[in-house]
Amino acid sequence: MYLDSGATSQKPIQVIEAESDFYKNSNAAVHRGAHLLAEEASIAYEGARIKVADFIGADVEETIFTKSATESINAIAYSFSNVAKNSRFFLKAGDEIVVSEMEHHANLIPWQQLAKRTGAKLRWFSVTSDGRLDLQDIDSLINKNTKVVAITHQSNVLGTIPPIQLIVERAKSVGAFTVLDACQSAPHFKINVADLDVDFLAFSGHKMLGPTGIGVLWGRQELLLEMEPFLFGGSMIDSVEMESATWAALPRKFEAGVPNMAQAVGLGVAVDYLNNVGMENIHQHELKLTQQLLNGLSHIQGVKVIGPTDLIDRGGVVSFVIDGVHPHDVGQVLDQYGIAVRTGHHCAWPLMRKLNQVGTTRASLHLYNTESDVEKLLATIPSVQSYFKVNK
Ligand SMILES: Cc1ncc(COP(=O)(O)O)c(C=O)c1O
Repeated sequence: MYLDSGATSQKPIQVIEAESDFYKNSNAAVHRGAHLLAEEASIAYEGARIKVADFIGADVEETIFTKSATESINAIAYSFSNVAKNSRFFLKAGDEIVVSEMEHHANLIPWQQLAKRTGAKLRWFSVTSDGRLDLQDIDSLINKNTKVVAITHQSNVLGTIPPIQLIVERAKSVGAFTVLDACQSAPHFKINVADLDVDFLAFSGHKMLGPTGIGVLWGRQELLLEMEPFLFGGSMIDSVEMESATWAALPRKFEAGVPNMAQAVGLGVAVDYLNNVGMENIHQHELKLTQQLLNGLSHIQGVKVIGPTDLIDRGGVVSFVIDGVHPHDVGQVLDQYGIAVRTGHHCAWPLMRKLNQVGTTRASLHLYNTESDVEKLLATIPSVQSYFKVNK
């Protein structure tokens, strides 16, 4: 029983077959060969881009394939320090970058590094004891010195969905760029870049039923046009001289080298799959299971949910701790009962410290989970407590 979709989702057979079918029938380097196979490969690859762009309400030119969300976020952060001094992306001492205490390391460390490289200051929203962002000081936190606000759309530890609209409005009012980490949202509910009104968005294919090795970076066209590429080489050029080169049009300017073609095609089919089920159906299904899980956990003595205990602005990621048992031990015993959960710091060390936890046990849901999965987890927790003799 798989309750670890926050780490990576399982894949429908259609996705696995699409990837394998690409290798069997269409494998050639996209945008390069003059032969029919290369044309077929390019059509399949660009077809996937159209599906992904459509999925997030974006233009195809603004939808860039990377290898992962981690790469997407690093790419943006790198681009902010790889520009001329007169560029609006240029960061320097006195500028500020705002993140939050609930960020995954992938949306924290690239900004720490950017701050180090440029002399800018890293600042952050703190997290309240009930697992929400503390917005009290938003007006002083996001101020005229703020150049970038990079925030998660849904915490991979707590399930919390921060008030993105409020944060984006504040960021825009001071002229800061906004970056949204949509790793835990894009797979679970409908997202639309126009509605979100952010400047950049990143997510991974493998958490949304797609293959590993494929991620998405979306950016506003006017910004992508101005930004420098972060990878240089084949396929991203318009013309090349011995001492200089010019860049291809979007999105290829940001896709140097032969891309992860089969993976992109697999992601396109994952998007079809999600669309066929319907993102709203997926969302409602996961909310129902989350409610069941939260209710059940609240009735087990010695168990505490870490994060919001109601369904307000939260998704299907539920972290909990069992009094007297280390999360790794919880995970190990649950595994003996055939239940796969994630345990530990979940790539969010500062958050664990803030919440005074060495780690948590995390159950994360997706469309294939059922009420009986949740029931089984709830029924097994007392066995874990018995095993460690911590029953109350
Ligand atoms: C919120 C969040 N951001 C970023 C990432 C990084 O994604 P990836 O490892 O696919 O690059 C993850 C993965 O767990 C995540 O949950």
